[in-house]
Amino acid sequence: MSADPERFVTSTLAKKDLEFENSIRPKSFSAFPGQNKVKERLELYVQAAKERKEPLGHFLLSGPPGLGKTTLAYIVANEKGTGIKTSSGPVIEKAGDLAGLLTSLQEGEILFIDEIHRLSTNVEEYLYSAMEDFVIDIIIDQGPNARSVRLNLPHFTLVGATTRSGLLSAPLRSRFGLTLRLDYYKPAELRQIIHRTGKILNIEIDDGGAIELAGRCRGTPRIANNLLRWARDYAQVKADNKINRSVASSALEMLDIDKDGLDEMDNRILEALIYKFNCKPVGIKNIAVAVGEEDGTIEEVYEPYLIQEGFVVRTPQGRTVTEKAIKRFGLEKFPERRIPGSSGLEQPNLL
Ligand SMILES: Nc1ncnc2c1ncn2[C@@H]1O[C@H](COP(=O)(O)OP(=O)(O)OP(=O)(O)O)[C@@H](O)[C@H]1O
Ligand SMILES: [Mg+2]
Repeated sequence: MSADPERFVTSTLAKKDLEFENSIRPKSFSAFPGQNKVKERLELYVQAAKERKEPLGHFLLSGPPGLGKTTLAYIVANEKGTGIKTSSGPVIEKAGDLAGLLTSLQEGEILFIDEIHRLSTNVEEYLYSAMEDFVIDIIIDQGPNARSVRLNLPHFTLVGATTRSGLLSAPLRSRFGLTLRLDYYKPAELRQIIHRTGKILNIEIDDGGAIELAGRCRGTPRIANNLLRWARDYAQVKADNKINRSVASSALEMLDIDKDGLDEMDNRILEALIYKFNCKPVGIKNIAVAVGEEDGTIEEVYEPYLIQEGFVVRTPQGRTVTEKAIKRFGLEKFPERRIPGSSGLEQPNLL
């Protein structure tokens, strides 16, 4: 067993970033705009456990990066009045690491495992009895002296977070009492988040500025907050410290963030679908090879936003672009297409 369980308690951010994160991170459900269904369920879950004076059941948070999984785990700990320890799938390498971590918990405390889909199968199997019966059987010693020792654990709450819920094994998934999926935020919610962060950081931004940023942050609060900080720098140097619509727009233009707020990978996916695959339906694996990204990441991180925004559709034959995507690249319905590296022009074959 590991001598130092704190070794597996991770902090992925540098101290200064951590301070910034903590200052803008909502601490209660009421300070957390958006994700209403998820919030309602969690609030009820917490209230019921509190009334019964029981530890909270295990729950899983899934969804694309930057939508508030970690934030919600901390809010739940706060609202339940319990401690929380944080670790992450790849950091817990051996069963002994997990045993050390679990035995270091207090009764009712939350263990937050980020990137839980990256736990090794071996460690994951140890987690089953820990989650279900609050015991863990570990083997100590080797060879003829090897024996199994049962450790009793405090009644803890496991909160798993994953951007890749599809990679979670069925046995692990089924041990969570509640599974919650976070979705991209609506512009009105992002606007609220931007105003809230602006107030905390003392940034002068009017509603036009907030609307502009909200529409160009990929439905993601983390990106919204980062763009707000960038717009503040821009406004400080170029615009009297005040962020209005046109200042926000110029600030984003300088970062090459277009009106749809798509990032580089989004654009690469769209370009591949239009130019490499000729606007014909194509499987996720082919897209993955074309853009040099894992197929699962495309499916769970990029594609949902492109579909939500109406750039990509799923058909029984595969994924393809919509007219909106084609127009985005300045092409008309049956555009001429220049093949990179060749001088010839070609007609893409639209559906
Ligand atoms: N609803 C919200 N209101 C205000 N701020 C939010 C909200 N959701 C997220 N944030 C902010 O966005 C940032 C990212 O949130 P968080 O770290 O919780 O995301 P995550 O889902 O855990 O991301 P990852 O998958 O990368 O770990 C944080 O700074 C957080 O304060
Ligand atoms: Mg997180």
